[in-house]
Amino acid sequence: MKYLKFTTVLVCIIFFSCSQKEAINISSPDKNIKVDVVLSEAGEPTYTIIHKNIEVIKTSKLGFDFENIGSLTANFKIIETTNSNFSETWQMPWGEQLDVVNNYNELKVELQEIAVLKRKLNIVFRVYNDGVGFRYEFPEQENLLEVLIAEEHTEFNLTGDHKVWWTPGDWDIYEHLYNTTKFSEINALQYVGHENLAQTSIPNNAVNTPVTMKTGSGLHISFHEASLVDYAGMTLQVDTVNYTMKSVLVGSNNTSYKVKQTVPFNTPWRTIQIAENAGDLIESNLIVNLNEPNKLGDVSWFKPTKYTGIWWEMHLGKSSWDLASGKHGATTENAKAFIDFSAKNNIGAVLVEGWNTGWEHWIGFEDREGVFDFVTPYSDYDLKEVVRYGKEKGVEIIMHHETSAATETYEKQQDTAYALMQSLGIHAVKTGYVGKILPKGEYHHGQYMVNQYNNAVIKAANYQVAINAHEPIKATGLRRTYPNTISREGLRGQEFNAWASDGGNPPEHLPIVAFTRMLAGPIDYTPGIFDIKFNDYKKENQVNTTIAQQLALYVVIYSPVQMAADLVENYEGKPALQFIKDVGVDWQETKVLNGEIGDFVTTARKERTSDKLFVGGITDENTRSIEIDFSFLDEGMYEAIIYEDGKDAHWDKNPTSLSIRKLEISNESKEALTLAEGGGFAISLIKKQ
Ligand code: NOJ
Ligand code: CA
Repeated sequence: MKYLKFTTVLVCIIFFSCSQKEAINISSPDKNIKVDVVLSEAGEPTYTIIHKNIEVIKTSKLGFDFENIGSLTANFKIIETTNSNFSETWQMPWGEQLDVVNNYNELKVELQEIAVLKRKLNIVFRVYNDGVGFRYEFPEQENLLEVLIAEEHTEFNLTGDHKVWWTPGDWDIYEHLYNTTKFSEINALQYVGHENLAQTSIPNNAVNTPVTMKTGSGLHISFHEASLVDYAGMTLQVDTVNYTMKSVLVGSNNTSYKVKQTVPFNTPWRTIQIAENAGDLIESNLIVNLNEPNKLGDVSWFKPTKYTGIWWEMHLGKSSWDLASGKHGATTENAKAFIDFSAKNNIGAVLVEGWNTGWEHWIGFEDREGVFDFVTPYSDYDLKEVVRYGKEKGVEIIMHHETSAATETYEKQQDTAYALMQSLGIHAVKTGYVGKILPKGEYHHGQYMVNQYNNAVIKAANYQVAINAHEPIKATGLRRTYPNTISREGLRGQEFNAWASDGGNPPEHLPIVAFTRMLAGPIDYTPGIFDIKFNDYKKENQVNTTIAQQLALYVVIYSPVQMAADLVENYEGKPALQFIKDVGVDWQETKVLNGEIGDFVTTARKERTSDKLFVGGITDENTRSIEIDFSFLDEGMYEAIIYEDGKDAHWDKNPTSLSIRKLEISNESKEALTLAEGGGFAISLIKKQ
């Protein structure tokens, strides 16, 4: 590992002998991306980003307004600039790849107010080959002890009316469909009060991040944040006339400020991923690289796994979470049936929702504090026996904690609940935060909740428990620092297909998600629905993909916990189940073979623990033919099993039409595949001895 630090005194001297408006530059290691930092006449810090001599971000201002003190936006001078570079290769304990190259050039600009208080603010830029991250650092100083941030004023001024894939800047939930519009046509306010959401609050014409764009010259750019710690989530307010975006932090109705912090502290990184090919956005490691290294050490107690669960049946209405309903799903008997099925089919875990008391009084109730209990099972569920039976069969139980957003109750019970898990040898929990946050006035994405989510992960680690959060805060790469942050929802998941009154997730949903939400981190989408129309339960809803696409999702959508989400009876006797049985969940390497945002994407992943590879491809509502070039394979022959859309397959007219064939291939092979409307394909590649 190399860390070269240059404190370029000479550069500073040259700089000060020039005008304050002279640009300070920093480039990516491959020199393709350049950031210029300039202090304006008024002493305002600004930056510009250039990719291969073409502007990507026009001159944009930086700064803050506070509740307790004067703004930090202008009247600065530069007191020092420091350049350094960094290069290392670190390893993911689990992930899309084993080795991650972290190579950047850094510029630290130290600013000080010219005025009486002489307050200091540093801005640090890290420029990588795949994009730029920058953050504000509030260094220790006499005249700045505590800040109450009223607003962060980080601008991202765009160069044109780009094509944008966006969801509204909702302070409470990310479970919106993506819109594809020109920047000038973004209208987030049309989603105020959106139906199907247990909570929503959209105060501005703003978008949530990651938000991805394609410029007129064909460049792909995506805006997000990294290392969101003790701060509020950032939305981006859009000015559709001037093509500019500006940070709007998520607030609280309980305070007039949005963030309270004690100096010294650093803000999260503001990130811009830049790629010529759309697929390179998916391969980018910018977000994880901008996070601190692993603070937990060995987390081998968490094993990436496929899982089934007592879950889809509740969303279909076949059973319920609550005992009083008379159709309780989480019974000992039902859990054992899921364990038996999983043990037979190379699936390592079973999620059991609705196992604990409190479900009679969750969604729709105002007084949700003190209701849920995370240690007491319902009378028809023998937790210890289920865990014991699972162990006997080699299947783990995934715990479930639906907090119903009653944060004080959950916080109080966390130690007891995680200790119970540890005593039973349970290493993963799915948490949920459905409904309006209690205490009232807080939002899911504000500083209060950011701390709730982060503290839960840190506390859970003490008990060797990993968390898969639903209704979460967005992923910002903290899985690098706390690798027990395994997956999360934070998008419109499969569940919407079971009950949303707007027809569920359209076929273009996942070909957009792969280039937007997925850039943030692992997704618990819960794929693998085989009974696409589920007419026995709900005639008005369905999954809007073919069965081949459901298989492809195990490869295209990344998560270290991948659900086989359907009812077990829907898998029995289905040849497609073989793919779920075979597919890996932990990867040595990932390669995106092709893709266009919102249209299609094909991904290949090599398993860590074997020399098997898996390829998945999905398309939107359009049929298309693609050719797979297998040159990414090592030398030797492979047996390929191809699961593809049948000739008459169509996401609506014939979603379960699937054809399966076997062939031998090598790294010289090319194979043409046809994807049906809303379709896809999945391939397993097993090396021949
Ligand atoms: C919402 C989650 O997204 C879903 O997966 C879960 O079943 C329910 N909450 C109940 O916790
Ligand atoms: Ca949800």
